[in-house]
Amino acid sequence: MSRAKPQTYYLRSFGCQMNDHDAEHIAGLLEEMGLAREESPEKAELLVYNTCSIREKADTRLAGHLGEAARIKKKDGSRLVVVAGCLAQSRREELLRDFPVVDVLVGPQSLHELTDLLERRRLTGRPAGAFQEDTTCWSADLPRARAEGPLAWVQITAGCDNFCSYCIVPYVRGRETSRAAADILAEVERLAREGVREIMFLGQNVNSYGTQPDFAGKETFAGLLHGACGVAGIERIRFMTSHPKDVSEALIELLGARNQICEHLHLPVQSGSDSVLEAMRRGYDRQGYLNLVRRLRRAVPGLALTTDLIVGFPGETEADFEDTLSLVEACGFDGAFTFIYSPRAQTEAARLPGRVDPEVARTRLQRLVDLVQRQGRERNEALLGEVVEVLVERRSRHAAGEVMGRTRSYKPVNFPSSARPGALVAVELLEATSTSFRGREAG
Ligand code: 5AD
Ligand code: SF4
Repeated sequence: MSRAKPQTYYLRSFGCQMNDHDAEHIAGLLEEMGLAREESPEKAELLVYNTCSIREKADTRLAGHLGEAARIKKKDGSRLVVVAGCLAQSRREELLRDFPVVDVLVGPQSLHELTDLLERRRLTGRPAGAFQEDTTCWSADLPRARAEGPLAWVQITAGCDNFCSYCIVPYVRGRETSRAAADILAEVERLAREGVREIMFLGQNVNSYGTQPDFAGKETFAGLLHGACGVAGIERIRFMTSHPKDVSEALIELLGARNQICEHLHLPVQSGSDSVLEAMRRGYDRQGYLNLVRRLRRAVPGLALTTDLIVGFPGETEADFEDTLSLVEACGFDGAFTFIYSPRAQTEAARLPGRVDPEVARTRLQRLVDLVQRQGRERNEALLGEVVEVLVERRSRHAAGEVMGRTRSYKPVNFPSSARPGALVAVELLEATSTSFRGREAG
């Protein structure tokens, strides 16, 4: 049953930034094994899908990709197919039963076992899998194939203990764990030496960094940010995702005080209705969120706020939805990711009565998107004529002689320039959409 080792791989990642970051480590492991990356599945001997399970759409998308993988494998049976990530963890039985094309399944806490799993599959000819529940080995410590550029993700926590009633994350990524500050800062220093200028700390809930009872390091999130500010060469620091119930006074102060920490906060509110927030088990109410936004705005001039919103949660009435619209108006978000509630087996909300008619949910989503876009455009238009600091990320993919960079508020700006990636450029903002700008270098 033993077969030749694959020489090339194709990797497709879905979902959030944490998954994209995991994908950098999957690529790193495979490249350390000597495999070269291919951009099309037809050409690769090993096909890897790094999956997401947050909404149902992700399941159907994976089924489509596995159908394509099956067609490719039919022509050449030596191809190997790996399903990694959250769906591999949460749907392992169904995947093995319904998709014989799958050779290896590897959950997000077991990525370090990928090399062994591939070898096991090769030697036995039988599907292999690993599904560790909690994080004991950080994928951040695995080899990493990072996309070139001045920005890098740095993972600081794994898992989530919040159990928001709609969310599958705590079931697939396990208990919340903090990574040792010394390891994190060593990684930031290494990245700075490689030319990285901006880091984004990643975690499901970064504000609870260091709060787990068994965490040996006793560091706090504010302390960690403070440490990162001291790393030479790092011009900007941001972090994602913040939970409103865990934003501390120390963090608010740091946001206002340290130049490297960008004045941008992604602060998912999910709903503006007290009864929905309670049923979601978010741990704050409407007024609590509004008060937090007020404190943040007072302490951090020019703060950009973005959020996540869910419509159609079980039992959501028209009045609840109106509360969400009015909260969005009151907060003045710079942008929002908007979702229709998608029931996930295992979660508490999947068992709640009061399912919202899908047509009603779609209409609510559209009304919310319209509001978010109008607000984003108005906030961006109010900045036209201003000169802002832009960190250049890359040459423009669309226009010769142009570059793409981001403001401190994480908004993309396109402008004519010969500046290299990593340069900080003063740019006058000339035109705005709801999510981006065009500008010119300020003389
Ligand atoms: N249905 C719809 N959206 C969800 N999210 C998480 N779980 C669900 C679900 N079951 C959204 C939340 C979260 C973002 C990452 O995804 O808004 O903040
Ligand atoms: Fe899911 Fe809530 Fe944890 Fe975010 S904080 S990952 S929404 S359970």
